[in-house]
Amino acid sequence: MARNGKIITGLDIGTTKIGVVVAEPTESCTFRILGIGNAPAEGFKKGAVVDFEKTVDSIRQAIDDAEMVSGRKIESAFVGISGDHIKSINSRGVVAIGKTGGEIMPGDIDRALQAAKSISIPADREIIHILPQTFIVDEQGGIKDPVGFTGSRLEVDVHVVTGSVTAIQNILKCIDKCGINIDELVLESLASSYAVLQKDEIDLGCVVIDIGGGTTDIVVFQDGAIKHTAVISMGGKNVTSDLAIGLRTPLDKAEQLKCAHGSALSMRVDAAEMVLVPGVTGRESKQVSRSVLASIIEPRMEELFSLVARELKKSQITEAPAAGVVLTGGGSLLDGTADLAEQIFDLPAKPAAPHNYENSSEFNPGPAFATGVGLIHYSLYRQEAGVSKTKGKGMLRTVEKIKKWLNEYF
Ligand SMILES: Nc1ncnc2c1ncn2[C@@H]1O[C@H](COP(=O)(O)OP(=O)(O)OP(=O)(O)O)[C@@H](O)[C@H]1O
Ligand SMILES: [Mg+2]
Repeated sequence: MARNGKIITGLDIGTTKIGVVVAEPTESCTFRILGIGNAPAEGFKKGAVVDFEKTVDSIRQAIDDAEMVSGRKIESAFVGISGDHIKSINSRGVVAIGKTGGEIMPGDIDRALQAAKSISIPADREIIHILPQTFIVDEQGGIKDPVGFTGSRLEVDVHVVTGSVTAIQNILKCIDKCGINIDELVLESLASSYAVLQKDEIDLGCVVIDIGGGTTDIVVFQDGAIKHTAVISMGGKNVTSDLAIGLRTPLDKAEQLKCAHGSALSMRVDAAEMVLVPGVTGRESKQVSRSVLASIIEPRMEELFSLVARELKKSQITEAPAAGVVLTGGGSLLDGTADLAEQIFDLPAKPAAPHNYENSSEFNPGPAFATGVGLIHYSLYRQEAGVSKTKGKGMLRTVEKIKKWLNEYF
């Protein structure tokens, strides 16, 4: 297997599929996708490992698939993390500026971030991210980059994401068992945001909703920074099981019916349109109106969005996100989802698939791969310091370009 050239791997351990994206940085754009691997997720429920062996097998299968498609050996990966063990809070770090004649240096920012980190966190939780929101120099707030400012006191507002130590350890153990080194753990919704957002959406403020199988992850942006993140234990699988129960059909058939004929908005559906619903073993199939399917799906999607709306309220954003709602994840492929979101949030809503990478006709990852592709964006941003020491100018230019973009907005 070819080993030439640097590759970056994003490993998204979802509740329905394990998605692996292999990419290489490019000069002209950001990165090129070399291959995508995919395997059904087994042994993993709502972001937590419930069967060690099955999870390891699923990860191995997806990695093998990605290696075969990309022709590259995967040795390490940036890994997405989600689940209802994830919690987030906003915090503030404060430091005095003294030794440098009042001019703020990069080291002061590090100290301020360290100070923000020293909030009391229960022993069973660990910090996954500290995401700077805004800096305050003396009384002046709203500063994005305080280096070079003069002052006596530097404050930083941050968004802190934590996860359960046990849940994290279990995931790490499974990946280790597959012989893959972990570059970094990344909140899945943060990665998805990197993949699907446009610059102006971050500027104006928006809400990213990644509807997965077992979880729905949200990120709220205001003033170009992350104000709130949350993980809701509900997703496309709940819709499928409602259909299976409501129509008395096997789960796999319910899943097919949902994807092919389902809708989140019953008013969009022609009641005269009939679909064949297979019966549970031995029972006869029956013709059912598409509007019946939609009438089962709609309340669940309403419930999901009302839980998201509750999170928006918690986020205490001071103004409505002008760029509205950006929907991604496989669950966003459900017909009528964006229209229902517009009704519930009273905001413009649009579905979004990953972009911001060098396009290739061969690989066209849909919304289910937003996290996997976003992990590549994240990795380029994080690796910049190390890469700049070891790689040529081309790579450096690429990374600088990406870093500039990401630094500006995340
Ligand atoms: N065409 C479609 N219409 C409706 N739903 C769809 C469609 N395609 C996929 N889905 C749903 O998307 C969900 C899976 O999405 P995704 O692959 O983003 O989840 P995941 O990343 O595995 O899970 P999670 O993010 O919860 O860990 C499933 O519930 C599936 O039914
Ligand atoms: Mg997902």
